[in-house]
Amino acid sequence: MRPVSKEAITLIHQSPLLTIPTDQESGSRRLIIQGSRPLSGQVRASGSKNSGLALVAASLLAASGRVKLTNLSSCSDIDAMLAILTALGAQVDRGQEGQVSIDTRTLSDVETPYAVASRIRGSIYFLGALLARTGQARVAYPGGCQIGSRPVDYHIRGLEALGAHVVLDHGWMLATAPHGLVGTRIYVDRASVGTTANLMMAATLAEGTTILDNAAMEPEIVDLATFLTSMGARVRGAGTPTVRIEGVTELTGACHEVIPDRIEAGSYLLAGVVTRGRVTVTRTIPAHLHAVLGKLRDMGADIQASEPDYAVTAEMDRPIRPVDLESAPYPGFPTDLQPQMSIALALAPGTSVVRETIWDSRFAYTQDLARMGARIRVEADTAIVSGVDALGGAPVIARDLRGGMALVLAGLAADGVTEVAGTAHIERGYTGLVSKLSGLGALIRYA
Ligand code: EPU
Repeated sequence: MRPVSKEAITLIHQSPLLTIPTDQESGSRRLIIQGSRPLSGQVRASGSKNSGLALVAASLLAASGRVKLTNLSSCSDIDAMLAILTALGAQVDRGQEGQVSIDTRTLSDVETPYAVASRIRGSIYFLGALLARTGQARVAYPGGCQIGSRPVDYHIRGLEALGAHVVLDHGWMLATAPHGLVGTRIYVDRASVGTTANLMMAATLAEGTTILDNAAMEPEIVDLATFLTSMGARVRGAGTPTVRIEGVTELTGACHEVIPDRIEAGSYLLAGVVTRGRVTVTRTIPAHLHAVLGKLRDMGADIQASEPDYAVTAEMDRPIRPVDLESAPYPGFPTDLQPQMSIALALAPGTSVVRETIWDSRFAYTQDLARMGARIRVEADTAIVSGVDALGGAPVIARDLRGGMALVLAGLAADGVTEVAGTAHIERGYTGLVSKLSGLGALIRYA
C-alpha cells in the first residue's frame, strides 16, 4: 500500500463524482417555496443514505470480484463516499438509476483525502474497512451535520479491542494492525449505529469470532449484514442486540440492492400531513416506519400501509392532534425524523413535548421556525411545542440536513413564500428533492 496523500487529494479534486457544493455555494443557492398547497400523489423512496454510506465502504472488503450496488442514492454524501473510494484506487462506475459497479482489486492507497472525508460522517467507515483489508488506515477525522459533539471514541475503543493500534494525529486517525485483527467480545456503547457497522466490517476478516453486545438494531445494520453475508462473511444476529461475526480469510464481490430510505419516506409522508394532503410513498418498507406511522396515526392521520406493495399512504383532512415524542434507537422513533415531525406538531393546536435523546444539539431549526411564527421553547434536550393555526413564509437557513428538510416542510405548509438558504445541507441526504416535491404539486424551485 502507498500512503500518499497529495495524489489522492489531486484525484479527489478531479473526480467527476465529487458534487458536494461548497459552503459558499450552499449560501448562494436557495430553495424558494410558495406554500399552503395540499400535496397529493405518489413519490418513490430512494435508497437509504445511511445504508449506502456503510455499503460503499464495505465494498473495499472484496479482494476479488466486483461489487454491484443497486438503488444506491445519489445524494451528495454518497457521491463523496464514492469519490473517496476512487481516490483510494478503486474503479467506480455509476450506471443508470442508482446502479454502481465497484472494483476494489485495484486498491492502491490507505489514506482518505482529507478535504472530502473530513466533511462527512460516513467516511469513518473506511477506518474499519481499510484496517480489515490492509492492516492499516489513515482516515481524516470525520465531519457531518452539526447536531452534537459527535465523538469517535466508541469506534476507536472497539477497533483497539480487536487488536488495532489507533492514534489521533493532527486531524487524522491513524490505525494499524500489523498482525491482523483478532475477534473478541465487545459491548457497543449506546447501541451506536456507526460503531456497530464499523466493527462488523472490521470483524469480517478478523481471526476468530467477534461478538457485539448492545449492537444497534437499525435496518441499515441488517442491510449491511446482508451485503457482507453475500460477500462471503459469516454474520448472525443483525437486527438484534447481539451480533456474532466469525472471521473468514477473504471476501468477494457481490450484488446487492440497497434498502429504501425510511427517513426520506417519512419526510414525504410528513409533507402530506403538514399540507393537509394525501401522499403515497412507494418502494418503501412499512415495517421500518412502524414507530413513525404509529405517531402519525396518533396525530390523526389516516395511514394505509401495504407490505406486499411496499407502499405507505398518509392522508390528513382534519386538524393535527398534538402528541409527545421521544427519539430513541431503532425500533424507537428515529432522531432523523424528529425535526420534520416537529413541523407537524408546530401546527397542532395544543402542546406537544418533543425529547431528543440521541443528539445534544438537534433543535437549531427551531430558531428559524420562530421566524415563521412557530412557538417552540427549547429546554436542554426537550422542545415544548405550542401549536399555532398557521405558519408564515420567511427567509430561513438550513443549518443541518434534517433540520433543513424540516424548514422545507414548514415552507410547504406556510402561507406565502419561504426562502431556504444553506441547501447543501439538505442535498447531503435527499435526492431529487425539487422534482419529487414538484411531482406532488409543490411550488418549489432553486434560485
Ligand atoms: N457516540 C459517541 N461516541 C462514538 C460514537 C457515537 O459518544 O464514538 C454517541 C453520539 O454522540 C450519539 C450516540 O452515541 O449521541 C449515537 O450515535 P451513533 O453512533 O448511533 O450515530 P452515527 O452512527 O454517528 C448514524 C446516522 C445518523 C443518525 C444516527 C442515529 C450515519 C452516517 N449517520 O450516526 O444520521 O442520526 O446514526 O440513528 O449513518 C442523518 O442521517 O441525518 C444522521 C445524522
